[in-house]
Amino acid sequence: MTEPFYITTAIAYPNGDPHVGHAYEMIATDAIARWARLEGRPTWFLTGTDEHGIKMAQTAAALGITAKELADRNSARFRELAARLNLSNDDFIRTTETRHRDSSQEIWRRMLKNGDIYEGAYEGWYSVRDEAYFDESELTDGEGGKKLAPTGAEVSWVREPSYFFRLSAYAERLLAHFEAHPDFIAPDERRNEIVSFVKGGLRDLSISRTTFDWGIPVPDAPGHVMYVWIDALTNYITGVGFPDDQSVQFQTFWPANVHVIGKDIIRFHTVYWPAFLMSAGIAPPRRVFAHGFITNEGKKMSKSLGNVVDPHALLDEFGTDPVRYFFLREVSFGQDGDYSREKFVNRNNADLANNFGNLAQRSLAMIQKNFGGVLPTTVPEAVDSAIVDEATAAIGRMQTAMAGQLVHEAAAELVALLGATNLYFAEQAPWGLKDNLPRMGTILVTTADVVRRAAIVAQPLVPEAAAKFLDALAVPADQRSLVHALGNALPAGTHLPPPNPVFKKFEQMKPA
Ligand code: MSP
Repeated sequence: MTEPFYITTAIAYPNGDPHVGHAYEMIATDAIARWARLEGRPTWFLTGTDEHGIKMAQTAAALGITAKELADRNSARFRELAARLNLSNDDFIRTTETRHRDSSQEIWRRMLKNGDIYEGAYEGWYSVRDEAYFDESELTDGEGGKKLAPTGAEVSWVREPSYFFRLSAYAERLLAHFEAHPDFIAPDERRNEIVSFVKGGLRDLSISRTTFDWGIPVPDAPGHVMYVWIDALTNYITGVGFPDDQSVQFQTFWPANVHVIGKDIIRFHTVYWPAFLMSAGIAPPRRVFAHGFITNEGKKMSKSLGNVVDPHALLDEFGTDPVRYFFLREVSFGQDGDYSREKFVNRNNADLANNFGNLAQRSLAMIQKNFGGVLPTTVPEAVDSAIVDEATAAIGRMQTAMAGQLVHEAAAELVALLGATNLYFAEQAPWGLKDNLPRMGTILVTTADVVRRAAIVAQPLVPEAAAKFLDALAVPADQRSLVHALGNALPAGTHLPPPNPVFKKFEQMKPA
């Protein structure tokens, strides 16, 4: 496959430190991007920070610093987290960059030219935390006479001159788009929710603000800055070169293959964003995948509960690959998922340390001990070919799962394959074949070859560990792609370095 692949995360508000929900989205998106590269697709992976809007302005004011200072400080923390998670992003966009101002102003001009922007005055409820407008009918009563958005955030009444986007004119075109592109919204249940939302009728959207100035100036409209979501969504095209839409970069990668986002911002991505793009004469993205939310021991994380999981603390204790693996395997992509230390330690110990790590270590140690680290020639029997066939079949199923971004299913296939190989190894009991070295050699090399295949397809999930296995198997750097996992074999005569354990086990009790 050589079709280009463009994938993005949502861009987070850098109004505070990144939490584990942000880390989760980064990890999952990275695994999908790495899988596309493994398939040989030219891939572009964009992440970044969403730095404008009243929430940023208010947080900065409360801290006594400027919004730009707040954005600089926290954007760096998101970038640092991305690096610690071993993200393979090709770019990191900040919406305060000049390239992005130019891009946002250009999409605005195009929507205006198309007759979809008009001047008016907005009056209604706004939630700063969500950076979103709400209808009276959507609100509930909170403590002390407060009005709350469906997200639980407090809303306030806003009244100001504003430009509007003619969203109401797009309902039919959006519904036709959903109909013609059944893969546009994933998972399916989200699609139904959006279809009924649009069928319920769309109102025009207020897209500029005049009561603060922390935003991208509306072209030729002094006093107006863009509503933060206009500028936020536009990052996805800025990231591939817009407004230069004739550039090779843009022509190659737009429309994006997948926007990975959380379920709370699906309306912005599947209703507003395609409507803006249609208005500007730009193709909508191919797919929006909404993942679920991460909870901590079954509870919603919040600053007030003091139970927000700090991704850096997890990385400090467990290291990058175990953290990546846990979330990829534990959470069904598209559903909510839960973090707990117990689950984390169990998954890590069972799947990585015992299943993957032991299999590799045992077979490789026996190759060192009995064959001086040189791969012997094999004489495969039916049982040996069967486990290799199982490996290629499992990898085929992983490919299918990844084509639909079902990362957890791909991870489960990998673990099942390793489980089957452990069983093969135990049943063939190579340690008891000291008087039949050709047979012992065949079993060890067959096992090592399945480890090779498994390590190749594990690269998107646990890149560092997978590279260690492949190094231990002396697999050249140019033979680590999907085609090599499905074909090839470990060549006899290859010298292998003495193996070292790759994964370790963790304790249920946190070390003092
Ligand atoms: N700035 C907007 C997105 C603009 S995209 C053009 C925003 N920022 S955010 O910081 O609030 O959220 C960033 C991403 O993290 C979103 O996709 C959101 O759904 C996700 N998550 C926030 N909390 C989360 C969890 N607890 N669990 C999983 N993901 C969560 O929204």
